[in-house]
Amino acid sequence: MREANPEINWETQRQYALRVRGLWGAAEKKAYVRTYGCQQNVSDSEKLSGMLEQMGYTFTDSPRDADLVLFNTCAVREHAEQRVLGNVGALKGIKAQKQDMVIALCGCMMQEAHVAQKIRQSYPYVNLVFGTGALPRFPELLWRTLAENGRVFDMEEQNGVVEGVPVRRDSAYTAWLPVMHGCNNFCTYCIVPYVRGREHSRAPEQVLREATELIATGCREITLLGQNVNSYGKDLQNGWDFSRLLAEIAVLPGEFRLHFMTSHPKDASHRLFDTIAANPKISRRLHLPFQSGSDRVLRQMNRRYTAAQYRELVAYARQVIPDLCLTSDVIVGFPGETEEDFRQTLALVEEVGFANLYTFLYSKRKGTPAETMPDPVPHGEKARWFEELLRVQGEKSRAFLNDYVGKTERVLAERVQDDTATGHTDSGVAVSFPADEPGEFYDVEFTQVKGVTLYGTPQTVPVEERD
Ligand code: SAH
Ligand code: SF4
Ligand code: F3S
Repeated sequence: MREANPEINWETQRQYALRVRGLWGAAEKKAYVRTYGCQQNVSDSEKLSGMLEQMGYTFTDSPRDADLVLFNTCAVREHAEQRVLGNVGALKGIKAQKQDMVIALCGCMMQEAHVAQKIRQSYPYVNLVFGTGALPRFPELLWRTLAENGRVFDMEEQNGVVEGVPVRRDSAYTAWLPVMHGCNNFCTYCIVPYVRGREHSRAPEQVLREATELIATGCREITLLGQNVNSYGKDLQNGWDFSRLLAEIAVLPGEFRLHFMTSHPKDASHRLFDTIAANPKISRRLHLPFQSGSDRVLRQMNRRYTAAQYRELVAYARQVIPDLCLTSDVIVGFPGETEEDFRQTLALVEEVGFANLYTFLYSKRKGTPAETMPDPVPHGEKARWFEELLRVQGEKSRAFLNDYVGKTERVLAERVQDDTATGHTDSGVAVSFPADEPGEFYDVEFTQVKGVTLYGTPQTVPVEERD
């Protein structure tokens, strides 16, 4: 098995965390952490918050009250980047009135050299900038920022997995559990492999240990995370793959649900679907991004499957998991996409029937192969295609929601406020129902749909209290 990256040793970082904590004496220090982007970033922010806690910080919801503001950023589309820069700009005024406030930016966007350069030049009030690779070195970097009272930039790439970083989870009952980091796929439109580095799987023992601990401490829903979970284990060369990992977690004792994301169709095997079918604790929700229904576009995207192979995968999955709930990602307006290509995407959406679809207008990313591909279709035309796709899927999503009315499903009360619980169906639909015990499962009969939320009536007692 691989060693954790020797460059980043958590014990060394813990010492830095204690040194930072030592600076505060009895004074209270508050941090404001804001997360952009995907679940991987949400999970990273739970680590950043865990480290901040060790450094003596408590947390606030308002940047104005904070001694340290940390933005964990996303680079996946231009819009995401602009939002971050806008919000960083808005901190200038707050900082002007609070000179010793520390502003720190980290995450995917900061791993891009041109972004870090822009921050260096145009945002002089930002104190600390670090990329995804430096995340576990946050205590050391913050110590340097405070001790040197200067500006610190660290864009070093990370080569490996660092274990032992403290985690401050947002919820007691649901948890993100990263099983791997990075991506090797280099889809031609995508920035992720450049800002997250190569695939590194966590050792199965570590993942199983963390899952066991989570369940023992009352966590009822675990979501395994990776950019492409189906390539889990390829770099470990110890006989483990994702199906095996999933199966071993699913047989741990206790009542819990197991989700995972994301699956790349090129690596999703029949064995994976068989594993889901055989284990009732594994969610019946499958997020399987297809990106385009046109083989020509899929080739240009370097996705390494055809639309026919995608359909075959779905057919097999539905055969072995009849109650499968399928969701997907799709990109409209990839460079060179024609009306005919788009019609093929629409046909796939019509035919496959997704419960929900995450639709994106193509966004050009610096340094990716697609950046330089000819892109003749005007924005207005792409926007019309996009609207058409939204209309088609909108009807399907509504039908999927309405279908729940009258059905009963086991739902975890994730949060309870004023005797009203909120949770999700196995397929991910938000649910609201009267209940008073957070962290318990209830069998809920759905009575109506309002917007994108289901309302329902639970059995009178939580599932566990019945015999
Ligand atoms: N690793 C995951 C997805 C990561 S990004 C996977 O492969 O499924 C989430 C989604 O953002 C992608 O599935 C894709 O649909 C979309 N996306 C990524 N880069 C994009 C770009 N440059 N423009 C528009 N959408 C993009
Ligand atoms: Fe991006 Fe493709 Fe990797 Fe997903 S699999 S993160 S879309 S390069
Ligand atoms: Fe964004 Fe990074 Fe996730 S680019 S989508 S936060 S991996």
